[in-house]
Amino acid sequence: MRRAAMLLLAAAARALCPRMRPQHLRPTVMSAAQPSKRDAKRLARGKAPKPRYATGKAKAVYRGEGLGAPSYAGRATALSGLPDTNHAYTVLGIETSCDDTACALVRSDGAILGEAIRSQHEVHAAFGGIVPGLAKEAHEQAIDEVVTECLEKAGLGMADVGAVAATVGPGLEICLRVGARKAALLASTYEKPFVHCHHLEAHCLVARLPGDEAPLEFPYLALLVSGGHCQLLWVQGVGDCAVLGGTLDDALGEAYDKAARMLHLCGPTGGGPALERAALKGNATAVELPVPMKQRKDCDFSYSGLKNALRGKVAERRAERGLIDDETPLPEQDVFDLAASFQNVAIRHVEDRLKVAFKRVIGEAGAAPTLALVGGVAANAELRRRVSDVAAQAGWRTVVPPPRLCTDNGVMVAWAAIEKANLGFSDVVDEEVEVIPRWPFRGFSEPEPATVRVVAVAGERATAPA
Ligand code: KG4
Ligand code: ZN
Repeated sequence: MRRAAMLLLAAAARALCPRMRPQHLRPTVMSAAQPSKRDAKRLARGKAPKPRYATGKAKAVYRGEGLGAPSYAGRATALSGLPDTNHAYTVLGIETSCDDTACALVRSDGAILGEAIRSQHEVHAAFGGIVPGLAKEAHEQAIDEVVTECLEKAGLGMADVGAVAATVGPGLEICLRVGARKAALLASTYEKPFVHCHHLEAHCLVARLPGDEAPLEFPYLALLVSGGHCQLLWVQGVGDCAVLGGTLDDALGEAYDKAARMLHLCGPTGGGPALERAALKGNATAVELPVPMKQRKDCDFSYSGLKNALRGKVAERRAERGLIDDETPLPEQDVFDLAASFQNVAIRHVEDRLKVAFKRVIGEAGAAPTLALVGGVAANAELRRRVSDVAAQAGWRTVVPPPRLCTDNGVMVAWAAIEKANLGFSDVVDEEVEVIPRWPFRGFSEPEPATVRVVAVAGERATAPA
């Protein structure tokens, strides 16, 4: 009886509140006026509250709901000092959020003074995906070498560095820690300001790195396509970004990687680039595959249906060729045709979503509407070409960083930190590393900058050319 009454009540509540979403999609709402029990304890101990972020689904989609990731503008606090922003200064940026250990030294006018990177494709190739423990070990092995190589290439030492920066999220926690710890140790050893970066924001901001083209001004539309993310973003400023749409399942880079694996195309350069190379030799209309979400006129993406359709076509081809065992590869031309057909449809889905996004934001885009194509998959030449074409047809300019600045790199971290330092922002370096593995653009409810702490190892000093 009681249960029946409760069910009735729940049904009534649902009817009265149709927008009620499942718990996993609801952003965390916290009141700044009333600290949580955990934060109250930390405050009592004289510590800053922990940064808060939504506990939502990994790829939850939030549509244009306003501010996303950290909002720095207007709240700038130089918690660990600032380089002299009246003169050109340099920032050392470190990136270890996934499977690249990267470092770059960038000057505040955009000049790249030194770069070094170690990728881990070979470490993970045999496992069909990134193994976090192995990734962390590889970062640990590479980090000192990468920082030293970067400074040596620049012909500079830590004495010439104006600030140190690192990606602190989102990403693989144990990997983020390696870079954040190294950067924080360098900052404390050499008494430099420390600036932390949001990985996705750094992808978006690196498109503004001064170069030969006309500068990319705010606001702009960003299509962020990487291994973990596939989003259309309206970037209005540093730390000020609205999400127009995201993926309901697989990200574009993830889809490329999975398709490459199905076609046995993984190699030392990773699945996406291998599939792109194979597609060059194939017929893009040889295999019929469904364009995702054709009926939906919004900015969301979905790639799992296409992935499953490709799996079906691979199986069909194998049966047609009489290949019963899993080991015997398909004839090369079949692989090329399947790769080209997959890529063609995957990009077609991007084109469809872009057309919707252009219409949605054109009212706010100003006289020279601009699209930035960013994230690892933006290194793909076919995607670059077709996205630029569809944008040009709609009257939009496209800005795409050079391929090496699309995939994970140290330059984007250093540049994002320069953008923040120019607004008067830096973070605290304390005694233990605190990273933010889940840090969606939407749902960040703590406007204050988070503290990145270095594990207190008495007397420990960072190693790098001084
Ligand atoms: O941004 P990124 O380096 O790392 C993440 O933040 O995820 O993106 C990596 C993704 C991988 O899925 C990789 O296969 C894909 O970008 N990718 C490409 C190409 N280069 C990298 N996908 C297609 N074509 C490429 N040329
Ligand atoms: Zn990335």
